[in-house]
Amino acid sequence: MALLRVGVLASGSGTNLQAILDSVHGFEAKVVGVASDKADAVALERARAAGVPASVFPLGAYPDRAARDAAIGDWLDAQGAELVVLAGYMAILTPGFIRRFPDKIINIHPSLLPAFPGLAAVQQAIDYGSKLFGATVHFVDEGVDTGAVILQSAIPLPPDADSAAALSLLRPIEHALLPDAIRLIAAGRLSRDPANPRRILITD
Ligand code: GAR
Repeated sequence: MALLRVGVLASGSGTNLQAILDSVHGFEAKVVGVASDKADAVALERARAAGVPASVFPLGAYPDRAARDAAIGDWLDAQGAELVVLAGYMAILTPGFIRRFPDKIINIHPSLLPAFPGLAAVQQAIDYGSKLFGATVHFVDEGVDTGAVILQSAIPLPPDADSAAALSLLRPIEHALLPDAIRLIAAGRLSRDPANPRRILITD
């Protein structure tokens, strides 16, 4: 069976990208390219080490964000990407990019959405006094972390944990959840509930 062709966008250390490369890449999916807004993203090194094409799209090289996102979209199309995975991509994508890949963009976010969207989600959970926190994989729509939820996983938030400690507890959760979502999509097991399109159904 043909592998699902996945393009990844990442801005930072790329541990979620690494989890994808180590688990689904070459099995259910093929990572066909990694793009970043940051030239120094470690994620780019991880891609190159795995023999995956990597490219940087710095905002300063384009007239505006829409032009930058159009260039990313063109590059992903040239790689033949069928699914776009945001793995720690910290720039907000423009509506034109999102409309270009309808229901083909997923994101991992370090909270139990709809709680704590946006930046510093783990610190938000600590500040709120949450007893649980977790990670969400969701489809990307034109809002900030508002798209339909695909998978979530929750763990206790220890009362003494700072943001770094809590994030390190969350790492293994994220690194399992994002590959799991890609596997479900590769297997064609996700659909939207016709009665409520916010609800993502997982079939056997
Ligand atoms: C992850 O914790 C991911 O959930 C978060 O950035 C980190 C990237 O880590 N994403 C967001 O906060 C998106 N709003 P990584 O670069 O090691 O994969």
